[in-house]
Amino acid sequence: MTGPLPFAVLISGRGSNMLALEQATRDGRINGSIVTVISDRADAPGLVEARRRGLATETALPAPGMDRAAFGRELSRHIEQSGARLIALAGFMRILDGGFVQGWRGRLLNIHPSLLPSHRGLHTHRRVLEAGDAVHGCTVHFVVEELDAGPAVIQGRLAVRPGDDEASLSARVQRLEHIIYPRAVGWFAAGRLTWREDTALFDGRPSGPEIVEESE
Ligand code: GRF
Repeated sequence: MTGPLPFAVLISGRGSNMLALEQATRDGRINGSIVTVISDRADAPGLVEARRRGLATETALPAPGMDRAAFGRELSRHIEQSGARLIALAGFMRILDGGFVQGWRGRLLNIHPSLLPSHRGLHTHRRVLEAGDAVHGCTVHFVVEELDAGPAVIQGRLAVRPGDDEASLSARVQRLEHIIYPRAVGWFAAGRLTWREDTALFDGRPSGPEIVEESE
């Protein structure tokens, strides 16, 4: 271990997961600190709240004509300069190019609002309802080049109730997200969650995702 973990959080919107991570750095669940909050939208509401909490914030947008790879290189250089040793994607709505993902492989986490591998991509709550799924939830996973396909680290799980709609599922899933993301980053900071030869290890061993049930 090399001391508290400096990490970056990338957002595009409200940033409630970023705030949950920040809270966890304050109360000791994560031995680390957020060194930069980066948004690809200057008007992301999360930036305002991040500044209010004294966090450094930046907006990162591709310059006109800049392709995805060049943007990825610039973003990567920028994050390296911040001193971050981990990136937590938290509602970052831009697809990162392969070079970026390769460069940060094993140091790049994402939170996704479904029980992966079910329902990769967007509109997960709607798709859960349409499919008549009995369970739903959220997943923290390492990011690999294929979208929403990297190894799952921890999942929050809930039973879909009669009468649930997209809004109620979204609210319940987010409550679980705010529990599991700090836990995953806390493990990473403590050296319990590692990455070796393209495999996620927990306490040095490959393992399936930890499951947190809604009632916990
Ligand atoms: C979360 O539901 C997360 O799973 C998804 O984007 C949403 C971000 O919400 N990737 P917030 O900005 O953290 O409130």
